[in-house]
Amino acid sequence: MIKPIQWRNRTLILLDQRRLPRDVRYLRLKRVADVAGAISTLAVRGAPAIGIAAAYGVVLGVCAQMRDGAARRNARGLRRALDRDIKTLRATRPTAVNLFWALERMRRRFQSLPAAATGADAAAALEDEAVEIHREDEARCEAIGRWGATLLPKRATVVTHCNAGALATGGIGTALGVVYAAARAGKAVRVFADETRPLLQGARLTAFELKQNGIDVTLMADSMSASLIRKIPVDAVIVGADRIARNGDTANKIGTYALAINARYHGVPFYVAAPASTFDLTLAGGKDIPIEERNPDEVTGSNSQRIAPAGIRVFNPAFDVTPAELITAIITDKGIIRPVRVRTVMSVIGGKRKS
Ligand code: MRU
Repeated sequence: MIKPIQWRNRTLILLDQRRLPRDVRYLRLKRVADVAGAISTLAVRGAPAIGIAAAYGVVLGVCAQMRDGAARRNARGLRRALDRDIKTLRATRPTAVNLFWALERMRRRFQSLPAAATGADAAAALEDEAVEIHREDEARCEAIGRWGATLLPKRATVVTHCNAGALATGGIGTALGVVYAAARAGKAVRVFADETRPLLQGARLTAFELKQNGIDVTLMADSMSASLIRKIPVDAVIVGADRIARNGDTANKIGTYALAINARYHGVPFYVAAPASTFDLTLAGGKDIPIEERNPDEVTGSNSQRIAPAGIRVFNPAFDVTPAELITAIITDKGIIRPVRVRTVMSVIGGKRKS
């Protein structure tokens, strides 16, 4: 399965997802600023993947400090540089909580070092932590897949939105992890993928990775899913998540909310698949989730071509919030949350989360 993130010889290798499916090209990054740029321009994207990339970014920052002799002499300098790097990485994208979660883990690992620790000690410890975050995500995807596969019949038709697959995580994906796990378990799964305007993660990424992995996939424009669901029996809508509040309200790619309303109207189960690291138990509900607004050019144009009149006002939130009441269940690595309520979220995720 294609890997969006690799770590080799203290170099971060990112599959440049902006170029997919046309070109399969890799970026080799050594600097925090480049990692931040890759996250904000969506060279790496998807909630778990940006957390993993940012964790490696912190390691690159410490390695850069070590190359600079001053930091080796001054532990306080190292800490100041780490704070600055974390601030840079935190400022890239506001919605996916995995980014902040991973960076806090990195900060805490640094803080747990003994006072006499050298720059080399710090780099080694932070590298261990980043690799652990990456490995954990891979395992969490497998667990989500196993739980989720139990929800699908032997022959299943699934609708998905955006890309919550291998390209968005350190493993087989969350929503698409369920599809892969069901296929591995011998179920015949076919997927209808929304193209996901404006950045087309469905058309460019989900269609690409499902096809590459031999899954039966059909692409459609976002506006077509209501007609599809009325026309053919759909067993489940499964999407990923960028941040889930304590009551189960879920932020995910713009268009998810409309799809959830559509599923409810037609009586189709609507599942969110996400690891424990996507839950933000500090937030009571979805109205507190910060929603990223992106450049108007993403809506006024397509493929570098302007399609709207110059000067037009644009509404371009990258995510929306689906209220818990529209979500049939949340499939996590720790089990299935159903019904979706504060009580059930807290009993599956609360207290057990490594945060
Ligand atoms: O803007 P993106 O491409 O980072 O948005 C990604 C999504 O909305 C995904 O559905 C979400 O991050 C879950 S990825 C497992």
